Amino acid sequence: MQPIHIGLIGLGTVGTGVAQILQEKAELIAARLGARLVLKRVAVRSLERPRGVPLAGVQLTTEVASLLHDPDIAIIVELIGGYEPARTYVLDALRQGKHVVTANKALLARHGPEIFETARALRRDLGFEASVGGGIPIIRTIKEGFVANQFLGMACIINGTTNYILSRMSDQGLTFQEALKEAQALGYAEADPTYDVEGIDAAQKIALLSSLAFGAWVPQEAVYTEGITRITPLDIGYARELGYRIKLLALANLRQGRLDVRVHPALVPARSWLANVGGVYNAIVIHGDMVGRNMLIGRGAGALPTGSAVVGDIVDVARNILNNSTGRVPPQAYHTPEARSLPLQDIGELVCKYYLRFQVLDQPGVLAAIAGILGQHAISIESVIQKGRGSAKDDTVSVVMMTHEAQEGNLRHALAAIAAVPSVRGETVCIRVEETEEAEAQ
Ligand code: HSE
Repeated sequence: MQPIHIGLIGLGTVGTGVAQILQEKAELIAARLGARLVLKRVAVRSLERPRGVPLAGVQLTTEVASLLHDPDIAIIVELIGGYEPARTYVLDALRQGKHVVTANKALLARHGPEIFETARALRRDLGFEASVGGGIPIIRTIKEGFVANQFLGMACIINGTTNYILSRMSDQGLTFQEALKEAQALGYAEADPTYDVEGIDAAQKIALLSSLAFGAWVPQEAVYTEGITRITPLDIGYARELGYRIKLLALANLRQGRLDVRVHPALVPARSWLANVGGVYNAIVIHGDMVGRNMLIGRGAGALPTGSAVVGDIVDVARNILNNSTGRVPPQAYHTPEARSLPLQDIGELVCKYYLRFQVLDQPGVLAAIAGILGQHAISIESVIQKGRGSAKDDTVSVVMMTHEAQEGNLRHALAAIAAVPSVRGETVCIRVEETEEAEAQ
């Protein structure tokens, strides 16, 4: 059976998973592919470190160039993450005539246009299924399965670490710090957990998904991003009382020719699909005009789920090689992405319902003062919860309000005015309520 040789750069969590799958599933893959995938060389930073996977017959090296210049190697798999030297390796590999598979969302969210264009121009395949949603085949779904659809919107849980943290806070009453420690111990978090908890990882992923779905390049910096570090068990409890769960959502909606792309915690109705996606699971609700709403759910992190997506890409590239059909699917989903230009909506223009929690001194008139300021800014209140005194240490009580739909710009002005009311103490908590079709799907 014909061998197809692979060079792997990076043997961290995902790299180890890929090496394990290539060995354990060699027979199964050969039977499905009609060729043998051979892991020929692996580039690592240190040859001394013990590896969690047997590597019999594999050449370990610290010289990436020895992979890029090996004429046997047809496919380079980049799994070191980060911007540089990953960008240089990927571009060099393409220029050396190799096909590339990567799981590097940070790299593609920043340098996507350059890398996609290089792959397209050289008719090399570039697989990056593992960059979003771990093992979930969302990229192939957008580019191939749903190719006949104009996408209308996406509502996603695409960071396993934060979904795990919020689930543990919600189900076990853990604090944010306790839940973060657990997630790190389980190996879900990025090397720097700031990327997870501040929403940056999810912003990179939704930037990439929206670029593929809508055909206009969305830079990560254009994605409005808020993380979960200020979410407390108190707000999770109030949200539950109101019939909602709090999730970190990555959203992309096309409305009247404008793209609204954002990442932030949101209240989602308790019965919705997304509210019930717990633990490290990721889910993507995607709405196409022909196919309607679909949800893809699966493990969004971890060596084997992510490794499964990487190996899926390797097999896809290998099939193209065997059939002389490389460059068949354009990397950015459109043959002419540059032809599409979509303006992005500013967060101040967003219209949705809001959950607000004020900490106030329990004095006559305070509720009226808050309601009055909201009214002056065209914000109408749907419901109010006020609990008795005594829970907080500082003599304050929580006043929770749900607004009707309001414009974010107006709300921000109102909250600034409310902060100046003497009986209002501390920072007001403000969480968007997602009641779009995608987030409400049930
Ligand atoms: N840190 C990421 C997550 C891993 O928690 O989802 C996969 O990108």
